[in-house]
Amino acid sequence: MSVSEKVVELAKRRGFFFVSSEIYGGVAGLYDYGPYGTLLKRKLENVWRKYFLSLDENFFEIETTNIMPEKVFEASGHLINFVDPAAKCKKCGTFHRADQIMEEFLHESFEGKTAQELTQLIKKHNVRCPRCKGELGDVSVLNMMFPVGIGSDKETHAYLRPETAQGVYINFLRHFNILRMKLPLGLAIIGKAYRNEISPRQLLLRQREFTQAELQIFLDPRKLDEHEKWNEIANYKLLLLSGKKVTKLTCNEIVKKLKLPKFYVYYLAKMQQFFLNELCISENKLRLRQLSDEERAFYNKIHVDFEVELEIGWKEIAGCHYRTDHDLSGHQLVSGESQEVFYDGKKFKPHVLEVSMGIDRIFYALLELNYAEDKDRIILKLPAKLSPYTVAVFPLVNKDKLPEKAQKIYNELKQHFDSVYDTDASIGKRYYRQDETATFLAVTIDYDTLKNNTVTLRMRDTKKQVRVKADKLIEEIKKLTNL
Ligand code: GAP
Repeated sequence: MSVSEKVVELAKRRGFFFVSSEIYGGVAGLYDYGPYGTLLKRKLENVWRKYFLSLDENFFEIETTNIMPEKVFEASGHLINFVDPAAKCKKCGTFHRADQIMEEFLHESFEGKTAQELTQLIKKHNVRCPRCKGELGDVSVLNMMFPVGIGSDKETHAYLRPETAQGVYINFLRHFNILRMKLPLGLAIIGKAYRNEISPRQLLLRQREFTQAELQIFLDPRKLDEHEKWNEIANYKLLLLSGKKVTKLTCNEIVKKLKLPKFYVYYLAKMQQFFLNELCISENKLRLRQLSDEERAFYNKIHVDFEVELEIGWKEIAGCHYRTDHDLSGHQLVSGESQEVFYDGKKFKPHVLEVSMGIDRIFYALLELNYAEDKDRIILKLPAKLSPYTVAVFPLVNKDKLPEKAQKIYNELKQHFDSVYDTDASIGKRYYRQDETATFLAVTIDYDTLKNNTVTLRMRDTKKQVRVKADKLIEEIKKLTNL
């Protein structure tokens, strides 16, 4: 079994995530999260929230609607440009994403190739339908947005948002005026995005409904080549892909060699630190890749992706996007409402630097990268702050007043940590059950607890056990988990 198959098996068995509407056969690209998955996802979102919103005192979180009128996407350019190349099988009628089937065929990226180029490549290499081996037709482009008709006559054309970002742009001026009228201003949304993917696959990596965590930083373009906290990261090394290898370059070197603005590179550093220090992804599993002109999204002037190495190869999980005033200009043009601010002696439309992350992709990467097997057990070695439950509490046996004592300790612990109580099966089985759902610590109440008020505290990764005074347990768990 491959690691991803094992992760899927575990995810399904323990209810982390599974195909949505399964009793009706399921729909490709739609997934539901069970209790463990939901806890992990919320924790991941909260780590993101705490980390990115505390980077600057002028950063805030907002919430906007998922359904937005067509004009929004006319202004943003999504109506015309948010398309993927598709090839239809002449035999079975299935649509395939043309760049993806080429990538699977030749094991290199074909992102950004035109429909015409992809048609020629498919013909040249005689690529056939992956489903029925039928002949593929010419490549055309399909818009990826989900249309919605609003009202009983469904006359008002709208779309489910394909990115959280537009909700921020259409609100920018209001928040600029309500808040401190100061730049940079950061507005973040953690919420759903919807894309009618042509070939949803690879589990949570390519879904039709997914969660994004995006921070839009509005800045004065005159200040693009500076950042007030530059010195903090000037000598910090970034894991930049150059050719086929990762080269570690300091932020100063990146500014010089790649001619990237300091404001932008500062956020590259902060994003990398988020993955390495907050999510504890190992350095050798992460890299930054600068996208070429053909590859980068239509709204970006500078585009660097963050990729993690999974079993299927390197996968994009996040991006740092310099969107200039592309979006505010579009909204000004289509709405007729000025999006300019008067700031520091000048009237202008702020530029946008976007920190964009896919929560579900990171979620999946965390499961796969932390999946481990050790003789007869599966361990999910998530950092304590992400473990769905921090601590499990077990009475050794279900008699002799041990459950009463264990319940008392559990009730105390759950005031401080996400805690779970378990009495089913042998103690060994209970430990293993918690190990595979990432529970960081386990507390066992035994006969000695009744005599001297001590408990056994067991660490998930090492199986090491220590005896701890029950009244020092909270302190000890805080020390071990940093929570
Ligand atoms: N606002 C910019 C934007 O949406 P993107 O690169 O299209 O940029 C941002 O998406 C992130 O959202 C990606 O890095 C990825 O993690 C996630 N993402 C994109 N499409 C996805 C899909 N179909 N399923 C799951 N996650 C997706």
